[in-house]
Amino acid sequence: MLKSRLFAVLLACVPALAAAAGKVEMLDAPIDVHDRASLQRGAGLYMNYCAACHSLQFMRYSRLGEDLGLSVEQVEQLIIKGNAKIGDTMITGMSKEDGTAWFSKAPPDLSTTVRGKKGQEDWVYTFLRSFYVDESRPMGWNNTVLSGASMPNVLWELQGIQRATIEPMGEDGCPVAQVGGNCITGFVIQEHERGRMTPAEFDRAILDLTAFLTYVAEPARLQREALGVWVILFLSFFTLLAWLMKREYWKDVH
Ligand code: HEC
Repeated sequence: MLKSRLFAVLLACVPALAAAAGKVEMLDAPIDVHDRASLQRGAGLYMNYCAACHSLQFMRYSRLGEDLGLSVEQVEQLIIKGNAKIGDTMITGMSKEDGTAWFSKAPPDLSTTVRGKKGQEDWVYTFLRSFYVDESRPMGWNNTVLSGASMPNVLWELQGIQRATIEPMGEDGCPVAQVGGNCITGFVIQEHERGRMTPAEFDRAILDLTAFLTYVAEPARLQREALGVWVILFLSFFTLLAWLMKREYWKDVH
């Protein structure tokens, strides 16, 4: 019984494991920035688990509320922590100096993390799922995507305690990641170290967070895409009009 459960958990982690030798293969993050419920859940998770360390310096609470369909009261009650005002940008209270002192590296602003580069959302999605126990690190955690990351695994309560299975390196290199002369061949969460979420729930939560950060990186995208539909409709209408006019003129010519 326990074995089969363990196997199920292992299976759930398998996509995270497929990786070329030495290089960490990114998971595909099937996000939908037009799914408001997903963005709202992502925003909630962000405020609870990330905002203490990371800023979103280009995002205002008011804008967030408008885009996510939340009233001012909802933003004030559900989103804002501490005494920020609705018109403020989403800045953390942690100074760069404190961040550097506490984590050896100040937590970066995340407003533009998922921007520009293709596949950045896949990187974030994979990164947030790839923390594992590593007693040799000061925080007790490491990450296969960002080896030696100074960010602690803030979501372990939800995910459970993810451990890496480590084996000596074979001739073909490592399937997931290399640590010293050994390989990480996979992740496992043992029955008694499970988190508050099932693996599927946790993946969903990470997807919502990734969708939220993708939206934050380019909020105008929501409007631009909505506008795009009108531009196309207008152009189609204009083409039709031009065609009708041409037909009308040519009638006289013939
Ligand atoms: C306790 C402070 C802290 C919390 C809370 C925290 N982080 Fe971090 N985060 C860091 C630090 C420090 C780094 C820099 C890691 C490094 O480069 O070694 C970092 C790096 C990152 C990066 C990589 C950014 C880049 O451009 O390199 C991402 C993405 C990220 N965090 C997302 C999150 C998300 C999402 C949450 C909430 C679930 C979160 N973090 C919560 C401290 C924190």
